[in-house]
Amino acid sequence: MIEKVKAACAFLRERLPSSSESAVILGSGLGAFADSLEERTVIPYEQIPNWPRSTAPGHGGRLVQGKLGDRRLLVMQGRVHYYEGYPMEQVVFPVRVLGELGVKNLVITNASGGVDAALSPGDVVVVEDHINFMGANPLRGPDTPEWNDRFPDMTRCYDPEFSAAFEKAAMEERISVRRGVYFAFSGPSFETPAEIRMARMLGAAVVGMSTVPEAITANAMGLRVCALSCVANAAAGMTENVLSGQEVLDEMAKTSEKLIRLLKRFFKEMR
Ligand code: HPA
Repeated sequence: MIEKVKAACAFLRERLPSSSESAVILGSGLGAFADSLEERTVIPYEQIPNWPRSTAPGHGGRLVQGKLGDRRLLVMQGRVHYYEGYPMEQVVFPVRVLGELGVKNLVITNASGGVDAALSPGDVVVVEDHINFMGANPLRGPDTPEWNDRFPDMTRCYDPEFSAAFEKAAMEERISVRRGVYFAFSGPSFETPAEIRMARMLGAAVVGMSTVPEAITANAMGLRVCALSCVANAAAGMTENVLSGQEVLDEMAKTSEKLIRLLKRFFKEMR
């Protein structure tokens, strides 16, 4: 895997105008942020050696480098999920590449179901911790001491200073955000009402099918990680509604503008 990651890095170093300190992964229906950057270099995933292709609806498949103020960001417009059938090491291949390219800060975004009854579609949750219920860990497999410890600490997986900075940025943009625990299921079926009751009892605010493998890997590699979860729907069994992937994408199209403002303000003020 290390050789495959290095091949992708060599390819990208030739094509990207410069390095990036910060990267963003854009979740379902949230790709518009990448299009709002200046002086973009766009590289379709299929051109990058060994890079997995997203098959999920609402996920573009491009790596975009672009300027926001005087900062050059690397943005993943679309990701792959465990439910698409990729082994975990493929799911986190892009994060390995970002780490190897020297990225120091990673902001992960996702669409989620609200488990806490106080959350509504359109709300944004700053992820303060997670519960990995996917049944798999991306670091399982041969030890990779070049990249990370065998047993990485997870007590500060989501950087508290970044979370505070997002809350400040949200206040300045008059966007209400709250902190919460993200509970990851593997999908692709949505959860049952009983599973949602379990997640709530265990302290979850939101549920989803992504983010956790990327956060574990990036944290293990020493990146500072922050995750923003955009609530697309009330989780299963909380309303009379049945859930659909289309509903998630429709809701994210509405939330996208808010997320863009939040990300822009955050990066403007980030030190
Ligand atoms: N469950 C899991 N993932 C999701 C949901 C949900 O309700 N909504 C958006 N992504």
